[in-house]
Amino acid sequence: MPKMFKKKENKEDDKIIRARRGKFVSRLRGMKDVLPEEYRYWNLVIKKATELAKSYGFKRLDTPVLESLELYERSSGRSSDVVTKEMFSFVDKNDDRIALRPEATPGVVRAYIEHGMFNLPQPVKLFWLGPVFRHDKPQAGRFRQFSQFDLENIGETSPVADAELIAVTYYFFRELQIDVVIQINSIGCSVCRKDYLVKLENFYKERGRRAKLCHDCKKRLVKNPLRLLDCKEKACVEMAAEAPQIVDSLCDDCRNHFIKVLEYLDELDIPYNLNPLLVRGLDYYNRTVFEVWPSAAEAAVEVAPGGAEKLAGKAAGERAEQPRQNALGGGGRYDGLVEYMGGRPTAACGMAIGLERVIMKIKEKNIPLKDDEKGDIFLAQLGDQARRKIMKLFEVLRKAGFNVREAFTKDSLKSQLEAADKMGVKYSLILGQKEVMDGTILIRDMESGIQEIIDYKKIVAELEKRLGNPAK
Ligand code: HAM
Repeated sequence: MPKMFKKKENKEDDKIIRARRGKFVSRLRGMKDVLPEEYRYWNLVIKKATELAKSYGFKRLDTPVLESLELYERSSGRSSDVVTKEMFSFVDKNDDRIALRPEATPGVVRAYIEHGMFNLPQPVKLFWLGPVFRHDKPQAGRFRQFSQFDLENIGETSPVADAELIAVTYYFFRELQIDVVIQINSIGCSVCRKDYLVKLENFYKERGRRAKLCHDCKKRLVKNPLRLLDCKEKACVEMAAEAPQIVDSLCDDCRNHFIKVLEYLDELDIPYNLNPLLVRGLDYYNRTVFEVWPSAAEAAVEVAPGGAEKLAGKAAGERAEQPRQNALGGGGRYDGLVEYMGGRPTAACGMAIGLERVIMKIKEKNIPLKDDEKGDIFLAQLGDQARRKIMKLFEVLRKAGFNVREAFTKDSLKSQLEAADKMGVKYSLILGQKEVMDGTILIRDMESGIQEIIDYKKIVAELEKRLGNPAK
């Protein structure tokens, strides 16, 4: 094309693009579209989550996306980052304060109380999958809308419940071929934590430490001193490494509970790291808290098993480095929350995994995926009469349980067979004008290219012979 025309054309293109941009409303910051090619990752993680939850006796429930803002203020906690900084909240037309859920646990606990699930045999084991919303600063692996796979075990005090939860979490990652290490700590109960908090505050008030804290931590020292331990600012990290450890202040009951959890994990060969700095960012936790970190981040950190013995002896856990990458999951015990939310005193524990982060790991590691989109049989047609007949046949075969694919809108046989090839099917059934008249159909082996004529009425039997009976 002559240069002169090219320039003009480019200018025209620019104009069109600019005009289109002016009209176009893009998606919000921190929100993602899940496109069809990405859905196979979602199918995989949702399938794995569902299978595991079911095997361990967790039953699925859903809760509304919108809840009263007060639900989260009271449960996630008025001093938590989630409530103070990250809520998507608004006042609705009735002047009610509403929030988009930032996590599943408060809604699940509300549903447990509201639907009288305390009358069911305890514990009630629930599983939940869905989108949650946090107005956080978007960055790699951090979104404003993301999805959680959440498990809650409500009504069980035994450390077996904590261990089972951590085991299911660990198996989820192991079966998806993602190497992780569980970071674990105990933050005690309201009684022993009180003593610890006094020690912690005294530590930060000693030798001008307070002045060196970051702006947020100065506030935390007053409102929620435990959170000083997981600040990411360099000076705060250095000070936290010197701070007294909560495991040294646990009361006998909390200490024994923690040792039992670790013993079960040792027995199950689940790799974990005793992490005295792990405190979690939500207010409802007591006793066991844990997070799932990608194992590469732990290169410098010693990994137990054997932690139960160490804890039973004098030494507390090793000082762990803060994760350079985002946690893939986290959870813990929350024995006070159900009562605090208006229910009976009820022990509980739970965990949630961030599915976008899991999918990022699967992609990063190039973990091969089974292609669920692939079919076994492609139905091709030539001519309108054949098309009508084959559309009916498609339904017959689909209902019989065969994995069938089509491209009914295409006319040429060549382009249909190309589509069949892309879909990776084993056989194509080809129906033309002649076959319609003869009461036959062609079956083509897509690998060898060999074609045979078969009786139209015997298609199902022929496919069963070649592919097996799909109903069995
Ligand atoms: P959480 O640690 O706040 O715990 O969130 C669980 C997981 O959600 C995180 O480990 C991470 O994988 C993912 N996640 C958190 N924020 C983001 C974000 N902005 N973008 C992408 N992924 C994110 C809870 O939510 C508790 N409700 C867990 C629990 C259940 N505790 C007891 N029961």
